[in-house]
Amino acid sequence: MKKIVILISGVGSNMRALLEARLPCTIAAVISNRADAEGLRTAQQHGIATAVVSHQDFSDRESFDASLAQTIDGYRPDFVVLAGFMRILTPDFVNRYVGKLVNIHPSLLPAYTGMHTHARVLQDGVKIHGCTVHFVTADLDHGPIIIQAAIPVLPGDTEHTLAARLLDQEHRVYPQAIRWLCQDQIELDHHGHVNLRFPKQVGYALISPGLE
Ligand code: GAR
Repeated sequence: MKKIVILISGVGSNMRALLEARLPCTIAAVISNRADAEGLRTAQQHGIATAVVSHQDFSDRESFDASLAQTIDGYRPDFVVLAGFMRILTPDFVNRYVGKLVNIHPSLLPAYTGMHTHARVLQDGVKIHGCTVHFVTADLDHGPIIIQAAIPVLPGDTEHTLAARLLDQEHRVYPQAIRWLCQDQIELDHHGHVNLRFPKQVGYALISPGLE
């Protein structure tokens, strides 16, 4: 059975969705860069080992990432799953885990890379928002895309309502992506694009606002 390690920085609701999804893998540990991350307690309540590697204990990104990698490698995971891990990782770190490091980002990549995606979507008047699970590469928020979910932006939406509705979808697609990974159902083609070995057909469009 494959083994994963999950990295968090905060609430850890995506981590919780992964812990509760009965994935066909062992969740070896949850690691946080913040000792006060709420998700650490949730992980402990689920009987999962936790560790903290605080970025504040290091003077530069390189030494933090080296220590983080050492902690991760102690669990010998097949995949490293970033679930609301809010640190930019150095190319050295990312290159150490090529094809093994995945992230969930709250936008339909490659649109809205970086921070404050919900606020920027609202500011731009965009009608469809979403989230993306992707492999992490040294190019921030640009790695091969595994799965995306789209939601309509509704009249009266605030950053808060939009984030909450999107999180519901994040909690659906992230466990699916990790399930595929652990079952070896994902392959990268020569364009660097992700293909599923047994793709399901999706037969409808999301139109927002709806047609009359
Ligand atoms: C999620 O919305 C996730 O997509 C986002 O942080 C939130 C974490 O929530 N990740 C990023 O912005 C990464 N750049 P959670 O701690 O409740 O899972």
